[in-house]
Amino acid sequence: MIPVVDLRAEYLAVKTEIDAAVQRVLESGWYILGQEVAAFEAEFAAWCGVSGAVGVGNGTDALHIALRACGIGPGDEVITVAHTAVATAAAIALTGATPVFVDIDPATYTLDPARLAAAITPRTAAVIPVHLYGHPADLGQILPIARAASLRVIEDCAQAHGAEWQGQKVGSYGDLACYSFYPTKNLGALGDGGAIAGNDPALLERARLLREYGWPPQNRYVSEIEGMNSRLDEMQAAILRVKLAHLDIWNNHRRRLAAVYAAHLPPTVVKPVEQPGCRHVYHLYVVRSTDRDGLRERLRTAGVATGIHYPVPIHQQAAYSHLPPVSLPATEQAAAEILSLPMHSTLTEKQIEQVCAAV
Ligand SMILES: Cc1ncc(COP(=O)(O)O)c(C=O)c1O
Repeated sequence: MIPVVDLRAEYLAVKTEIDAAVQRVLESGWYILGQEVAAFEAEFAAWCGVSGAVGVGNGTDALHIALRACGIGPGDEVITVAHTAVATAAAIALTGATPVFVDIDPATYTLDPARLAAAITPRTAAVIPVHLYGHPADLGQILPIARAASLRVIEDCAQAHGAEWQGQKVGSYGDLACYSFYPTKNLGALGDGGAIAGNDPALLERARLLREYGWPPQNRYVSEIEGMNSRLDEMQAAILRVKLAHLDIWNNHRRRLAAVYAAHLPPTVVKPVEQPGCRHVYHLYVVRSTDRDGLRERLRTAGVATGIHYPVPIHQQAAYSHLPPVSLPATEQAAAEILSLPMHSTLTEKQIEQVCAAV
Protein backbone atom coordinates (compact mmCIF):
# COMPACT_ATOMS: atom_id res chain seq x y z
CA MET A 1 0.00 0.00 0.00
CA ILE A 2 1.31 3.49 -0.82
CA PRO A 3 0.49 5.45 2.36
CA VAL A 4 -0.76 9.06 2.48
CA VAL A 5 2.00 9.85 4.98
CA ASP A 6 4.95 7.80 6.27
CA LEU A 7 6.14 9.08 9.64
CA ARG A 8 8.54 6.20 10.26
CA ALA A 9 10.31 6.76 6.95
CA GLU A 10 10.83 10.44 7.77
CA TYR A 11 12.25 9.52 11.17
CA LEU A 12 14.60 6.95 9.60
CA ALA A 13 15.81 9.56 7.07
CA VAL A 14 17.26 11.63 9.93
CA LYS A 15 17.54 8.92 12.61
CA THR A 16 21.17 9.51 13.55
CA GLU A 17 20.61 13.21 14.17
CA ILE A 18 17.34 12.71 16.05
CA ASP A 19 18.72 9.94 18.23
CA ALA A 20 21.67 12.17 19.16
CA ALA A 21 19.35 15.10 19.94
CA VAL A 22 17.12 12.92 22.15
CA GLN A 23 20.16 11.53 23.95
CA ARG A 24 21.43 15.08 24.53
CA VAL A 25 18.14 16.03 26.19
CA LEU A 26 17.94 12.82 28.23
CA GLU A 27 21.39 13.48 29.66
CA SER A 28 20.82 17.20 30.22
CA GLY A 29 18.58 16.70 33.24
CA TRP A 30 16.31 19.54 32.02
CA TYR A 31 13.08 18.59 30.27
CA ILE A 32 10.70 21.55 30.12
CA LEU A 33 11.35 25.10 28.80
CA GLY A 34 15.12 25.07 28.67
CA GLN A 35 17.93 25.70 26.21
CA GLU A 36 16.47 23.51 23.45
CA VAL A 37 13.14 25.37 23.45
CA ALA A 38 14.90 28.75 23.53
CA ALA A 39 17.19 27.73 20.67
CA PHE A 40 14.32 26.31 18.63
CA GLU A 41 12.26 29.47 19.14
CA ALA A 42 15.13 31.62 17.86
CA GLU A 43 15.91 29.31 14.91
CA PHE A 44 12.26 28.93 13.92
CA ALA A 45 11.59 32.69 14.13
CA ALA A 46 14.63 33.36 11.92
CA TRP A 47 13.48 30.73 9.43
CA CYS A 48 9.97 32.26 9.36
CA GLY A 49 11.42 35.75 8.89
CA VAL A 50 9.83 37.17 12.06
CA SER A 51 11.27 38.65 15.23
CA GLY A 52 10.12 36.01 17.70
CA ALA A 53 8.41 32.71 18.41
CA VAL A 54 6.88 31.09 21.49
CA GLY A 55 6.83 27.28 21.73
CA VAL A 56 3.60 25.80 23.06
CA GLY A 57 1.97 22.40 23.51
CA ASN A 58 0.16 22.11 20.16
CA GLY A 59 -1.35 24.11 17.31
CA THR A 60 -4.77 24.44 18.94
CA ASP A 61 -3.20 26.02 22.01
CA ALA A 62 -1.15 28.28 19.74
CA LEU A 63 -4.38 29.65 18.23
CA HIS A 64 -6.10 29.89 21.62
CA ILE A 65 -3.18 31.72 23.19
CA ALA A 66 -2.69 34.01 20.17
CA LEU A 67 -6.35 35.02 20.29
CA ARG A 68 -6.14 35.70 24.03
CA ALA A 69 -2.88 37.63 23.58
CA CYS A 70 -4.84 39.86 21.19
CA GLY A 71 -7.46 40.39 23.89
CA ILE A 72 -10.15 38.30 22.24
CA GLY A 73 -12.74 36.69 24.50
CA PRO A 74 -16.42 36.44 25.40
CA GLY A 75 -18.68 38.72 23.35
CA ASP A 76 -16.28 38.85 20.39
CA GLU A 77 -16.82 37.28 16.99
CA VAL A 78 -13.94 35.76 15.04
CA ILE A 79 -14.35 35.13 11.33
CA THR A 80 -12.82 32.04 9.77
CA VAL A 81 -13.67 29.15 7.45
CA ALA A 82 -15.62 25.93 8.10
CA HIS A 83 -13.34 24.10 5.67
CA THR A 84 -10.40 23.55 8.04
CA ALA A 85 -9.31 21.31 10.89
CA VAL A 86 -11.88 21.65 13.67
CA ALA A 87 -9.03 23.00 15.80
CA THR A 88 -9.41 26.46 14.23
CA ALA A 89 -12.98 26.79 15.51
CA ALA A 90 -12.24 24.96 18.78
CA ALA A 91 -9.53 27.51 19.63
CA ILE A 92 -11.95 30.41 19.03
CA ALA A 93 -14.57 28.76 21.23
CA LEU A 94 -11.98 28.12 23.98
CA THR A 95 -11.52 31.89 24.37
CA GLY A 96 -15.27 32.35 24.85
CA ALA A 97 -15.57 34.15 21.50
CA THR A 98 -17.94 33.00 18.75
CA PRO A 99 -16.67 31.52 15.48
CA VAL A 100 -18.34 33.00 12.39
CA PHE A 101 -17.85 30.91 9.26
CA VAL A 102 -17.54 32.30 5.74
CA ASP A 103 -17.25 30.41 2.49
CA ILE A 104 -14.08 29.46 0.64
CA ASP A 105 -12.66 30.22 -2.78
CA PRO A 106 -13.19 26.83 -4.46
CA ALA A 107 -9.90 27.14 -6.40
CA THR A 108 -7.62 27.45 -3.37
CA TYR A 109 -9.91 26.10 -0.59
CA THR A 110 -9.06 29.20 1.48
CA LEU A 111 -11.18 32.05 2.86
CA ASP A 112 -13.07 33.90 0.11
CA PRO A 113 -12.27 37.60 0.69
CA ALA A 114 -15.52 38.58 -1.05
CA ARG A 115 -17.40 36.98 1.88
CA LEU A 116 -15.25 38.60 4.58
CA ALA A 117 -16.48 42.20 4.40
CA ALA A 118 -20.13 41.09 4.47
CA ALA A 119 -19.58 39.02 7.62
CA ILE A 120 -18.07 41.85 9.69
CA THR A 121 -20.32 43.15 12.49
CA PRO A 122 -19.64 45.60 15.35
CA ARG A 123 -18.66 42.53 17.45
CA THR A 124 -16.07 41.20 14.99
CA ALA A 125 -12.65 41.35 16.64
CA ALA A 126 -10.46 39.15 14.45
CA VAL A 127 -10.14 37.05 11.33
CA ILE A 128 -8.23 33.78 11.06
CA PRO A 129 -7.17 33.07 7.47
CA VAL A 130 -6.16 29.40 7.22
CA HIS A 131 -3.41 28.65 4.70
CA LEU A 132 -4.99 25.29 4.03
CA TYR A 133 -3.13 22.36 2.45
CA GLY A 134 -0.02 24.59 2.17
CA HIS A 135 -1.51 27.27 -0.11
CA PRO A 136 -1.61 30.88 1.12
CA ALA A 137 -5.01 32.43 1.73
CA ASP A 138 -5.65 35.57 -0.34
CA LEU A 139 -3.76 37.95 1.94
CA GLY A 140 -3.71 40.63 -0.78
CA GLN A 141 -7.42 41.15 -0.25
CA ILE A 142 -7.89 39.91 3.32
CA LEU A 143 -5.32 42.21 4.97
CA PRO A 144 -6.74 45.54 3.68
CA ILE A 145 -10.32 44.52 4.55
CA ALA A 146 -9.21 43.50 8.06
CA ARG A 147 -7.17 46.65 8.57
CA ALA A 148 -10.01 48.91 7.42
CA ALA A 149 -12.26 47.30 10.04
CA SER A 150 -9.53 47.33 12.76
CA LEU A 151 -9.60 43.52 13.03
CA ARG A 152 -6.76 41.43 14.37
CA VAL A 153 -5.37 38.98 11.82
CA ILE A 154 -4.17 35.66 13.19
CA GLU A 155 -2.74 33.43 10.48
CA ASP A 156 -3.37 29.70 10.88
CA CYS A 157 -0.11 28.34 9.45
CA ALA A 158 -0.56 24.80 10.81
CA GLN A 159 -0.40 23.40 7.26
CA ALA A 160 1.83 26.05 5.71
CA HIS A 161 5.35 26.02 7.16
CA GLY A 162 7.36 27.73 4.42
CA ALA A 163 4.48 28.76 2.14
CA GLU A 164 5.05 32.21 0.66
CA TRP A 165 3.00 35.14 -0.54
CA GLN A 166 4.73 37.92 -2.53
CA GLY A 167 8.13 36.34 -1.84
CA GLN A 168 7.75 36.41 1.94
CA LYS A 169 6.69 33.55 4.19
CA VAL A 170 3.08 33.49 5.33
CA GLY A 171 2.86 34.03 9.05
CA SER A 172 4.82 37.27 8.78
CA TYR A 173 1.85 39.37 7.63
CA GLY A 174 -0.76 39.14 10.39
CA ASP A 175 -0.63 40.20 14.04
CA LEU A 176 0.42 36.68 15.04
CA ALA A 177 0.88 33.34 13.26
CA CYS A 178 0.13 29.91 14.69
CA TYR A 179 1.88 26.66 13.85
CA SER A 180 1.23 23.03 14.67
CA PHE A 181 4.05 20.49 14.83
CA TYR A 182 1.70 17.50 14.88
CA PRO A 183 3.80 14.62 13.49
CA THR A 184 2.25 14.69 9.99
CA LYS A 185 2.91 18.41 9.41
CA ASN A 186 5.62 19.62 7.00
CA LEU A 187 7.59 20.33 10.18
CA GLY A 188 6.43 17.60 12.54
CA ALA A 189 7.56 16.67 16.03
CA LEU A 190 7.51 13.10 17.35
CA GLY A 191 4.64 14.04 19.62
CA ASP A 192 2.61 17.21 20.05
CA GLY A 193 4.00 20.70 19.63
CA GLY A 194 3.09 24.16 18.40
CA ALA A 195 4.32 27.74 18.18
CA ILE A 196 3.12 31.32 17.97
CA ALA A 197 5.29 33.56 15.81
CA GLY A 198 5.23 37.23 14.92
CA ASN A 199 6.82 40.65 14.86
CA ASP A 200 4.98 42.42 17.70
CA PRO A 201 7.09 42.13 20.88
CA ALA A 202 4.18 43.05 23.18
CA LEU A 203 1.89 40.36 21.72
CA LEU A 204 4.66 37.75 21.83
CA GLU A 205 5.42 38.67 25.45
CA ARG A 206 1.75 38.25 26.35
CA ALA A 207 1.67 34.87 24.59
CA ARG A 208 4.77 33.86 26.58
CA LEU A 209 3.01 34.77 29.84
CA LEU A 210 -0.20 32.99 28.85
CA ARG A 211 1.54 29.69 28.03
CA GLU A 212 2.69 29.25 31.64
CA TYR A 213 0.08 30.50 34.11
CA GLY A 214 0.87 34.16 33.48
CA TRP A 215 4.23 33.86 35.26
CA PRO A 216 6.83 36.51 34.35
CA PRO A 217 10.34 35.02 33.97
CA GLN A 218 11.69 36.96 36.94
CA ASN A 219 8.88 35.89 39.28
CA ARG A 220 7.91 32.26 38.78
CA TYR A 221 4.94 30.92 40.75
CA VAL A 222 3.25 34.35 40.83
CA SER A 223 0.71 34.95 38.07
CA GLU A 224 0.60 38.39 36.50
CA ILE A 225 -2.33 37.47 34.27
CA GLU A 226 -4.59 34.40 34.19
CA GLY A 227 -2.79 31.88 32.01
CA MET A 228 -2.67 28.19 31.20
CA ASN A 229 -0.09 25.43 30.92
CA SER A 230 0.93 24.79 27.33
CA ARG A 231 4.68 24.31 27.14
CA LEU A 232 6.73 22.86 24.30
CA ASP A 233 9.01 20.27 25.88
CA GLU A 234 12.77 20.03 25.47
CA MET A 235 12.65 16.66 23.69
CA GLN A 236 10.27 17.88 20.99
CA ALA A 237 12.19 21.15 20.62
CA ALA A 238 15.46 19.23 20.08
CA ILE A 239 13.76 16.99 17.50
CA LEU A 240 12.23 20.01 15.76
CA ARG A 241 15.66 21.69 15.57
CA VAL A 242 16.96 18.66 13.66
CA LYS A 243 14.00 18.59 11.32
CA LEU A 244 13.97 22.37 10.73
CA ALA A 245 17.42 22.06 9.16
CA HIS A 246 15.91 19.70 6.55
CA LEU A 247 12.63 21.53 6.00
CA ASP A 248 13.61 23.55 2.92
CA ILE A 249 14.80 20.37 1.19
CA TRP A 250 11.62 18.50 2.19
CA ASN A 251 9.35 21.35 1.03
CA ASN A 252 11.18 21.50 -2.30
CA HIS A 253 10.74 17.74 -2.61
CA ARG A 254 6.99 18.12 -2.02
CA ARG A 255 6.87 20.76 -4.75
CA ARG A 256 8.71 18.45 -7.18
CA LEU A 257 6.28 15.65 -6.38
CA ALA A 258 3.36 18.02 -7.01
CA ALA A 259 4.81 18.81 -10.43
CA VAL A 260 4.99 15.08 -11.20
CA TYR A 261 1.35 14.71 -10.12
CA ALA A 262 0.37 17.67 -12.33
CA ALA A 263 2.15 16.13 -15.32
CA HIS A 264 0.65 12.65 -14.96
CA LEU A 265 -2.83 12.98 -13.46
CA PRO A 266 -5.68 12.51 -15.95
CA PRO A 267 -8.07 15.42 -16.65
CA THR A 268 -10.86 13.49 -14.89
CA VAL A 269 -9.71 14.98 -11.58
CA VAL A 270 -9.33 18.66 -10.70
CA LYS A 271 -5.76 19.38 -9.61
CA PRO A 272 -4.65 21.91 -6.99
CA VAL A 273 -3.66 25.37 -8.24
CA GLU A 274 -0.86 27.69 -7.23
CA GLN A 275 -2.07 31.28 -7.56
CA PRO A 276 0.29 33.96 -8.93
CA GLY A 277 2.58 35.36 -6.24
CA CYS A 278 2.09 32.26 -4.08
CA ARG A 279 4.41 29.42 -3.10
CA HIS A 280 2.45 26.27 -2.24
CA VAL A 281 4.19 23.79 0.09
CA TYR A 282 1.76 20.91 -0.50
CA HIS A 283 1.18 19.78 3.07
CA LEU A 284 -1.60 17.82 1.38
CA TYR A 285 -2.10 17.11 -2.33
CA VAL A 286 -5.85 17.42 -2.74
CA VAL A 287 -7.72 16.66 -5.97
CA ARG A 288 -11.44 16.82 -6.67
CA SER A 289 -13.77 14.39 -8.38
CA THR A 290 -17.56 14.27 -8.67
CA ASP A 291 -17.09 10.49 -8.19
CA ARG A 292 -14.84 10.92 -5.14
CA ASP A 293 -16.04 7.88 -3.21
CA GLY A 294 -15.81 5.61 -6.27
CA LEU A 295 -12.32 6.88 -7.05
CA ARG A 296 -11.28 6.38 -3.43
CA GLU A 297 -12.45 2.77 -3.46
CA ARG A 298 -10.71 2.02 -6.78
CA LEU A 299 -7.46 3.50 -5.46
CA ARG A 300 -7.72 1.42 -2.28
CA THR A 301 -8.12 -1.73 -4.38
CA ALA A 302 -5.07 -0.66 -6.43
CA GLY A 303 -2.97 -0.27 -3.26
CA VAL A 304 -3.13 3.50 -2.87
CA ALA A 305 -4.23 4.99 0.46
CA THR A 306 -6.06 8.33 0.43
CA GLY A 307 -7.58 10.74 2.95
CA ILE A 308 -10.38 13.29 3.12
CA HIS A 309 -9.46 16.64 4.68
CA TYR A 310 -12.13 17.31 5.80
CA PRO A 311 -15.26 15.18 5.34
CA VAL A 312 -17.75 17.31 7.33
CA PRO A 313 -17.47 21.13 7.35
CA ILE A 314 -17.43 22.56 10.87
CA HIS A 315 -20.78 24.36 10.54
CA GLN A 316 -22.39 20.94 9.94
CA GLN A 317 -20.78 19.22 12.94
CA ALA A 318 -22.92 18.48 16.01
CA ALA A 319 -20.57 20.33 18.35
CA TYR A 320 -21.24 23.60 16.51
CA SER A 321 -24.98 23.15 15.91
CA HIS A 322 -25.75 25.84 18.52
CA LEU A 323 -24.30 28.51 16.19
CA PRO A 324 -26.67 30.35 13.83
CA PRO A 325 -27.15 28.23 10.67
CA VAL A 326 -25.14 29.31 7.62
CA SER A 327 -25.11 28.18 4.02
CA LEU A 328 -21.61 27.69 2.59
CA PRO A 329 -22.11 26.17 -0.88
CA ALA A 330 -18.45 26.13 -1.98
CA THR A 331 -17.40 24.57 1.32
CA GLU A 332 -20.13 21.95 1.20
CA GLN A 333 -19.35 21.01 -2.41
CA ALA A 334 -15.63 20.74 -1.68
CA ALA A 335 -16.29 18.41 1.28
CA ALA A 336 -18.16 16.05 -1.06
CA GLU A 337 -15.50 16.01 -3.80
CA ILE A 338 -12.04 16.32 -2.24
CA LEU A 339 -9.51 13.51 -1.98
CA SER A 340 -6.01 13.73 -0.51
CA LEU A 341 -3.50 11.66 -2.49
CA PRO A 342 -0.22 10.41 -0.96
CA MET A 343 2.19 13.28 -0.23
CA HIS A 344 5.13 13.23 2.17
CA SER A 345 8.82 13.98 2.41
CA THR A 346 10.02 10.47 1.52
CA LEU A 347 7.54 9.67 -1.26
CA THR A 348 9.22 8.93 -4.61
CA GLU A 349 8.42 10.13 -8.12
CA LYS A 350 7.97 6.50 -9.13
CA GLN A 351 5.30 6.04 -6.45
CA ILE A 352 3.52 9.15 -7.72
CA GLU A 353 3.51 7.70 -11.22
CA GLN A 354 1.92 4.52 -9.79
CA VAL A 355 -0.74 6.62 -8.04
CA CYS A 356 -1.44 8.56 -11.24
CA ALA A 357 -1.76 5.33 -13.26
CA ALA A 358 -4.25 4.04 -10.66
CA VAL A 359 -6.26 7.29 -10.87
C1 LIG B 1 -5.37 24.10 9.92
C2 LIG B 1 -5.06 23.59 11.29
N1 LIG B 1 -5.20 24.39 12.35
C3 LIG B 1 -4.92 23.98 13.60
C4 LIG B 1 -4.47 22.70 13.84
C5 LIG B 1 -4.26 22.27 15.26
O1 LIG B 1 -3.02 21.74 15.52
P1 LIG B 1 -2.79 20.63 16.68
O2 LIG B 1 -3.32 19.34 16.15
O3 LIG B 1 -1.31 20.64 16.86
O4 LIG B 1 -3.52 21.11 17.89
C6 LIG B 1 -4.27 21.83 12.76
C7 LIG B 1 -3.74 20.47 12.94
O5 LIG B 1 -4.41 19.54 13.26
C8 LIG B 1 -4.58 22.27 11.46
O6 LIG B 1 -4.44 21.46 10.40
